[in-house]
Amino acid sequence: MKRLKDHDPEVYSLIEKETERQNNGMELIASENFVSKAVMEAMGSSLTNKYAEGLPGKRYYGGCKYVDIVEDLARDRAKILYNADWVNVQPHSGATANAAVYLTFLKPGETLLGLDLSHGGHLTHGSPVNFSGITYNAQFYGVSKETGRLDMNIIRDKAKKIKPKMISIGASAYPRDFDYEAFRNIADEVGAFLWMDMAHTAGPIATKLLNNPLPYAHVVSTTTHKTLRGPRGGMLLIGRDAENTLGKVAPKSGRVKMWSELLDSAVFPGTQGGPLMHVIAAKAVALGEALQKDFTTYQEQVLKNSKTMAARFMELGYDLVSGGTDNHLMLVDLRNKGITGKEAEDALGRADLTVNKNMVPFDTQSPFVTSGIRVGTPAMTTRGMGPEEFTRIAELMDMVMTSHTSEDVIQKVRSEVHGMCERFPLYDFVTA
Ligand SMILES: Cc1ncc(COP(=O)(O)O)c(C=O)c1O
Repeated sequence: MKRLKDHDPEVYSLIEKETERQNNGMELIASENFVSKAVMEAMGSSLTNKYAEGLPGKRYYGGCKYVDIVEDLARDRAKILYNADWVNVQPHSGATANAAVYLTFLKPGETLLGLDLSHGGHLTHGSPVNFSGITYNAQFYGVSKETGRLDMNIIRDKAKKIKPKMISIGASAYPRDFDYEAFRNIADEVGAFLWMDMAHTAGPIATKLLNNPLPYAHVVSTTTHKTLRGPRGGMLLIGRDAENTLGKVAPKSGRVKMWSELLDSAVFPGTQGGPLMHVIAAKAVALGEALQKDFTTYQEQVLKNSKTMAARFMELGYDLVSGGTDNHLMLVDLRNKGITGKEAEDALGRADLTVNKNMVPFDTQSPFVTSGIRVGTPAMTTRGMGPEEFTRIAELMDMVMTSHTSEDVIQKVRSEVHGMCERFPLYDFVTA
């Protein structure tokens, strides 16, 4: 970063401050992680200079011989990791990957059945403030009030009633695994496409710690920067033989096309321009890392830490939606603790414990206030923390939330947080 320091000290110093913030604080936002040095180097490389509209071997620009190989590497690694037949690594983000799914499978006004945002779903799964809810007829399923879990019988009844053209699975705040086979049976029963957005769980799915949706979903989308621990970005996948069950289509031109071709076109030129080749290189690096044995060890640790932390929260009298977690996140319902999600997020933030406020199912607070917080273990597990530390983090969070108006308590916790973070350093190299 020496050149940046001399060239633009203003930007340099802001990056320094952000790095310091990340280094000193406890990052507990479930959708965040810390990439490796190698991933960062690929992102900061000369590939950012290259225009490469199209796909490897079929570009609209010259000079693509090296970026073609890079993109093929990323696609091939993703295929191995998820047992996929087809992959597109170009989506700039999870949201644009999802936009390509809609463009491929739905016409404006057609019906999607997705998980309600306030029950853990994502904005791009039909929220009225997002293109998905504005352009398509979005209907929702939710979790059961008694169990906090999805009830496949209720989802089947709803699907039969509204006959969606597409059913989406996947969530931003659902702490349990999904029964993909049951979803597929429902989709087949009502003649719907089945789409899984595995943005949050791409890491544990890659390492077989959670069910793989690819054998069941017609299409799978993901981000690459959450549990998968890659650069910010998105990806689309189709499982082995999934296309055969979909059949070939010729919806626009006279030529018979595969769904994968339609998805490729929906990414470019449908929703994007030139791919970010430096990010695709970083995706290739991250996917290569994910194929290594120690990535499985890391994912095992993420889930172990999550379960340990969940157990400690429950011992401390916290209600967890669904009574625990199967994955990397937990949703803490604070209604029995007399503190809102917003108050908790603010107080915890002052102690450098970073979480996000989150709606809980059947929440009566607005999305700006909420009754809950979402807590995740991927980032601090990357820094090397284990069950002992996560037990203590739950205790520190409890101290803050039960005394959220006490600056004394917050400062005491903050200094313990800094001490713990010092023992698990992050990016000493960024400023080097
Ligand atoms: C399930 C799910 N899908 C899609 C996205 C959107 O990803 P991005 O922020 O990269 O657009 C997110 C992000 O939080 C998500 O949780």
